[in-house]
Formats: sequence, C-alpha cells, structure tokens
Amino acid sequence: MAEIRPVTQHNWEELIDLKVREDQRKFVASNLYSIAQAQFGDEFEGHWDLYPLGIYDADVPVGFLMYAFNFEHPKHQAYIQRLMVDENFQGKGFGKFAMKKMLEIFHTDERIKNVSISYEPENDTARKLYASFGFVETGEIVDGESVAVLKLR
Ligand SMILES: CC(C)(COP(=O)(O)OP(=O)(O)OC[C@H]1O[C@@H](n2cnc3c(N)ncnc32)[C@H](O)[C@@H]1OP(=O)(O)O)[C@@H](O)C(=O)NCCC(=O)NCCS
Repeated sequence: MAEIRPVTQHNWEELIDLKVREDQRKFVASNLYSIAQAQFGDEFEGHWDLYPLGIYDADVPVGFLMYAFNFEHPKHQAYIQRLMVDENFQGKGFGKFAMKKMLEIFHTDERIKNVSISYEPENDTARKLYASFGFVETGEIVDGESVAVLKLR
C-alpha cells in the first residue's frame, strides 16, 4: 500500500537515490538539493517552513515531495515546492496518490485558504495532473514557471 512518510535520519539516503528521466531533470531539483534546502526554509515574501516527505509503495521508496507553509502570506498559505516519482515507478498512480495525500493535509488546516504551485510551461504531465485536482493557472510566470492556484476555502 502506498503512503507518504517524513524524511528522517533513517530514510534520507534512499530518497536521494531516486531519479527522474534524463529529459525530465530540467523540471525538478534533485532530492539531495531539496533535503538540504528543507533545513533552512525558503524566503519568498516572508519565511516558509519546508516539509520534505518520501512516497513509498509498502517499504519501497518510489518518489519525493516537499510542501511549504507560511500562514501569514496574504495570497496563498501553502505551496507544493517539489513532486517527483522515480523513472522506474512513473505512470503507476504514485504522483496522483501523493497529490491526494498532500491536499488532505492542507484541508485539515483552517489557516490554509489557497495552495500555489508552479511548473515549467512545457511540463504537460504536471500541468494536467495539477489541473485534475482543481489548480487554475493565474497567467503569471515566476522565474520562468507558470503559476497555478487551488482555492481550498
Ligand atoms: C509529474 C509526475 C510527478 C507524475 O507522477 P506519476 O506517478 O508518473 O503520475 P501518475 O501515474 O499518478 O499519473 C498522473 C497522470 O499523468 C499522466 N502521465 C504520467 N506519466 C505520463 C507521461 N510520461 N506522459 C503523459 N502522461 C503521463 C497519467 O496518465 C495520469 O493521467 P490520467 O489520470 O489522465 O491517466 C512524474 O511524472 C515526474 O516525476 N515527472 C518528472 C518531475 C516533474 O516534472 N515533477 C513536477 C515538477 S512541477
């Protein structure tokens, strides 16, 4: 059964071994980079705490995600910073599963009104996946990436 689990001292090394296809590398930072970044948080119109998690199929690591919270931000209080499924496990529903789990977490917190995400304009798989969960493109391009927002409440 699939699940998402926080990155810990016990699993970070198996998670940094996960890789996307060569032609997808431009779409997502390495898990090593993300786990390093998570130690310090992100600064973008205020401070964001970062939460890195592994995606597992039973005990097999298959992917990685990282989300961010800043409950003081006026426009969006959560964003999905990273999502990747290892090249050997793509197309089996793990990306969709991870999105569903993340949105469940966001739904339980009343402080989160809007969730934001951004992706390379040519990343059609990502665009379709996020649109299927209700994310709507705002028309903004930030750092070369299309921005989409999901209104939760
Ligand atoms: C985007 C990504 C996370 C999706 O994860 P996944 O486990 O492969 O996706 P799923 O199996 O859950 O499928 C989700 C949808 O994408 C479609 N899809 C998956 N891989 C695809 C591919 N290579 N080409 C076209 N569609 C694809 C599926 O058909 C499904 O759509 P459907 O519900 O209409 O059938 C994964 O492909 C990935 O890691 N890509 C590289 C990194 C990346 O782009 N991350 C996002 C950065 S914003």
